[in-house]
Amino acid sequence: SAAYIPDEGPRPGETESVTVRVPAKVNLALSVGPLRSDGYHDLATVFHAVGLFDEVNAAAADTLAVTCEGEGQVEVPLDDTNLAWRAAELLARTVGRSPGVRLHLTKGIPVAGGMAGGSADAAGALVACDALWGTGLSRDDLHVLAAQLGSDVPFALHGGTAMGTGRGEQITPVLARGEFHWVFAFAHDGLSTPAVFHELDRLREAAGEEATAPGVEDELLRALRAGDSTLLGAALRNDLTRPATSLRPDLRATLQAGREAGALGTLLSGSGPTCAFLAADAVAAATVAAALEAAPSVRAVRRALGPAAGAHLL
Ligand code: C5P
Repeated sequence: SAAYIPDEGPRPGETESVTVRVPAKVNLALSVGPLRSDGYHDLATVFHAVGLFDEVNAAAADTLAVTCEGEGQVEVPLDDTNLAWRAAELLARTVGRSPGVRLHLTKGIPVAGGMAGGSADAAGALVACDALWGTGLSRDDLHVLAAQLGSDVPFALHGGTAMGTGRGEQITPVLARGEFHWVFAFAHDGLSTPAVFHELDRLREAAGEEATAPGVEDELLRALRAGDSTLLGAALRNDLTRPATSLRPDLRATLQAGREAGALGTLLSGSGPTCAFLAADAVAAATVAAALEAAPSVRAVRRALGPAAGAHLL
């Protein structure tokens, strides 16, 4: 029988490195409750991972460094305000080692676009550093660290289609059948997530509205169980649409352009400004995409399938 040969790491001249792919997300439903005393809002949401990806490459190094290329690269900070940097530091601290790693981000997810690109990078950094450093942590351990980094980071680890409660960090899988065809319209400028939540609070207060406990409607869960894109299109909901379009009225034109091109449903993605459109099939998606390409409020259009797998090693 073959002798057991221990893994001695990279051969001379080889850089030890791993690459993790992480999906973007849309919220098929995003129900926002009252402002909590910790500055967050209670949410009931249905996360859906889609086939737009960031990749995180982690290579052995003496100190921590972050580099970046791709979609929106110039807006990505390369210091300790980057969520991937913080993820590496948090993991290193947790297992009691130095955070020596060079993280290289390849962005396919728009920056400040409401598709959780920064959270994807954090989840990717956790999985990549965990593999590179051989920490032996479980997925549950990583989930706990992910929740400390941001509300959307646990779902980026998880992927698929899942309910999110609490501030979004508590994840429960949802039964979803089939594949959905999505079109995404990226806007010219990003939107700040806290600014959109604040605008929601301001609009509610101005209208004398009392925020109620958040919840997800049965129609949406039924549509997912049935894998029925027509039902799903009619059931898409996002409480952040009103505040985001209040801050950025041009988003109404984007949503309308997709609707007129035959989308089964239109949706602001997360806190925006990315707009998401559900199409019946690949042909319908191409028609919606072509119409959006011509809209002046749109910077770029991408097509993707959902659901997609969560953060995983390539
Ligand atoms: O958790 P994360 O750092 O991604 O959240 C960014 C900001 O979004 C928070 O500081 C808060 O203003 C807002 N937010 C919220 N309620 C949530 C999630 C985020 O108000 N459930």
